[in-house]
Amino acid sequence: MISKYLYYFIATLVLTASCNNIQQPLPELIDEQLTMASEQYKEMHAAVPADLMPRSTDPETGELITSGTGWWCSGFFPGSLWYLYEYTGDDELKQMAMERTALIEKEQYNTGTHDLGFMINDSYGQGLRIAGIQSYRPVLVNGAYSLLTRFNEVVGCIRSWDHGDWEFPVIVDNMMNLEYLMWAFRETGDSSFYDVSVSHTEKTMENHYRDDFSSYHLVDYDTISGEVITRQTVQGFADESAWARGQSWGFYGFVTMYRDTKDERYLEQAVNIADFLLSHPNMPDDGVPYWDFNAPDIPDARRDASAGAILASGLIELSRYVDAADSEKYLAFAEKIIRTLSSEKYRAQPGENGNFLLKHSVGHLPNNSEVDVPLTYADYFFIESLMRLIKLNS
Ligand code: GLY
Repeated sequence: MISKYLYYFIATLVLTASCNNIQQPLPELIDEQLTMASEQYKEMHAAVPADLMPRSTDPETGELITSGTGWWCSGFFPGSLWYLYEYTGDDELKQMAMERTALIEKEQYNTGTHDLGFMINDSYGQGLRIAGIQSYRPVLVNGAYSLLTRFNEVVGCIRSWDHGDWEFPVIVDNMMNLEYLMWAFRETGDSSFYDVSVSHTEKTMENHYRDDFSSYHLVDYDTISGEVITRQTVQGFADESAWARGQSWGFYGFVTMYRDTKDERYLEQAVNIADFLLSHPNMPDDGVPYWDFNAPDIPDARRDASAGAILASGLIELSRYVDAADSEKYLAFAEKIIRTLSSEKYRAQPGENGNFLLKHSVGHLPNNSEVDVPLTYADYFFIESLMRLIKLNS
């Protein structure tokens, strides 16, 4: 008798365990994540002073850290609110998105940053696309012209930073701003936007990328000769390492530039970068990269949820432009990242994590700044990935 009961007990345990291993259907996961995100972001809106933006939390105290609109990340909170409004149709979210977007208006005249794509396109651009708010158009166009002022004819690139000792620094992150300029080209018909975007892409392909399709973080150019002075890292582990978020930025940028120009070489570049990343021996099995692919303390190195979220979003977009087998491969990897980011380890519950959605991102590790904290862009690209999956299947 005892052995019979033992048998049933073990069988029940095995059955329970295997039931727990059954994956949540993706549409259900997406709905759960976006619904919960909407509530968390409403709480965030209530918690952040009306004239500021959320930025991160203090790693020691967990207290919310905010920023003004001049910070490069100011567009991500309104952009996320726009996506969540798009998903839910909830007018309260639309109102919040409009209020936060309006704060960024003055940045249209900011010529001191290359991040206007993140700041203006992800806020005003999303509002125009999602809610059709026509008064956003001139702000977007002015901002795009401000960004254009940073282009140097001799170098062939948009200047990234004004600080530091470099002559003309260009970081790979800058590929993310070209989508904005390509929109401005379609909007205004001014071919300078197209020419600058293509020139910047060509130079990045030529000078930022190594033979294995990993990217340097920063290339400094001589403005007299247009030649490269130096290649190095700022936020990565070493000059020759592959800083994870930089890899994701560059990859996403080439996918976007392919979408907007249909130049097959940009698609090829994006595929090569994706294959470098997905087959990298230091890519963790769960798909969320270490902060640098060459971090010396792997497997104990910090993960960067933001690098994972940006990669997932780019992979979903890329899956639309490749053959069926590759499409399946890229989508499967994106789904893996999304499932990992949706798991307890990364995904915060309501009331936790300063109302941010994701935990465990890395901003600038060599500076010991924003290490293992939530970041608005990790949330933004996580939400974008979920929205892209919905659109892919609709
Ligand atoms: N563009 C700055 C960063 O990725 O940290």
